[in-house]
Amino acid sequence: MKDFWEKQIIKQWKLCFLAPMDGYGDSAYRQAMKRIAPHVICISEFYSADGLVHSKFLADSVLPHQKMEDPLIIQIFWKDPENFAKAAKIIEQSKYNIAWIDVNMWCPAKKVVRSWHGSSLLINQDIAFEIIDKLNKATKLPISVKTRRSFDGNQNLVQFVKGLENAWAKLITIHGRTAKQAYTGDADFTDIYELKRNVNIPVICNGDIKNYDDWMSKIQNLDWFMIWRASFWNPWCFLPGEYHPTLWEMLSAMEFHAEELVKTKWERKGSLEIRKHLVQYIKSFPWVKVYRKRLVTTESFENSQQVINEIRETFKNDLDKKPGLWEIDKKEEN
Ligand SMILES: Cc1cc2nc3c(=O)[nH]c(=O)nc-3n(C[C@H](O)[C@H](O)[C@H](O)COP(=O)(O)O)c2cc1C
Repeated sequence: MKDFWEKQIIKQWKLCFLAPMDGYGDSAYRQAMKRIAPHVICISEFYSADGLVHSKFLADSVLPHQKMEDPLIIQIFWKDPENFAKAAKIIEQSKYNIAWIDVNMWCPAKKVVRSWHGSSLLINQDIAFEIIDKLNKATKLPISVKTRRSFDGNQNLVQFVKGLENAWAKLITIHGRTAKQAYTGDADFTDIYELKRNVNIPVICNGDIKNYDDWMSKIQNLDWFMIWRASFWNPWCFLPGEYHPTLWEMLSAMEFHAEELVKTKWERKGSLEIRKHLVQYIKSFPWVKVYRKRLVTTESFENSQQVINEIRETFKNDLDKKPGLWEIDKKEEN
């Protein structure tokens, strides 16, 4: 995987990335996305560099993944460059075949910012540059950064990213909101287009992108794009042409996701966590309310599978139809 960067990334273009998602972006979610759109590149949830250094248990829980998730990017956060370097060595030397490391300079959460992690590095820029420099000295894995267009509107994005580029960051992702904004207002890409005119590394754009076609309408001079929330609402968002899956595709995607979550996190935890995902897959059908309660209270993979099979049976003549294209209300009464 060491030469991944040269062999894969540089040759391709219009790549899409599944954004890091704390509490959601686990191995099962990533596999579910890759099964639908194999061209998506996945980033892990964020892990503390300090945690990876001090807990072998953490490393052995979060670095293992399935081959279909490759190339997998691991995102880490912290504040001091030394621990970043140590964590990078642990990731590189592990047997888990990690493709590269992404540094979180994005997180706006108060407790993260107050302890000088995440987006506070947009203010402590010298530390940010030192982190990238130390990481590059510690590992041969490519180092990328995910950040925001500014902390509070007072930082110069071009100057910040040039500093990261000089420290040999290989790729930058910019979310089009400031840390102060968190999720308020709309993502604004104006500064990001301007940034791309001034740096040489690939620039990934993030924030409010609905799907591949939406991205194409916004791409301008930018390289690639990254999506999180839209992937939760519509796991088919990475496919070109506003792809509408059939009911059959939706049900098998649900089944796959539920099975992988239970395999990777065991029956109890996996079943609790799949509750927030299952309804999402079929929410565009008016009859979803008939099954919602059972899907959000599922206790086991068997429970989830029973509901999925019931839907398959009820709509067996409509499995190849797509939401919006068929009259289903009459079956609601069943
Ligand atoms: C629940 C949740 C968890 C997130 N976890 C992370 C994370 O671990 N690391 C990170 O860099 N961004 C994280 N993000 C931010 C997303 O990666 C992304 O930048 C943001 O949601 C904007 O993209 P979107 O409009 O496509 O959702 C998280 C966002 C949410 C809502």
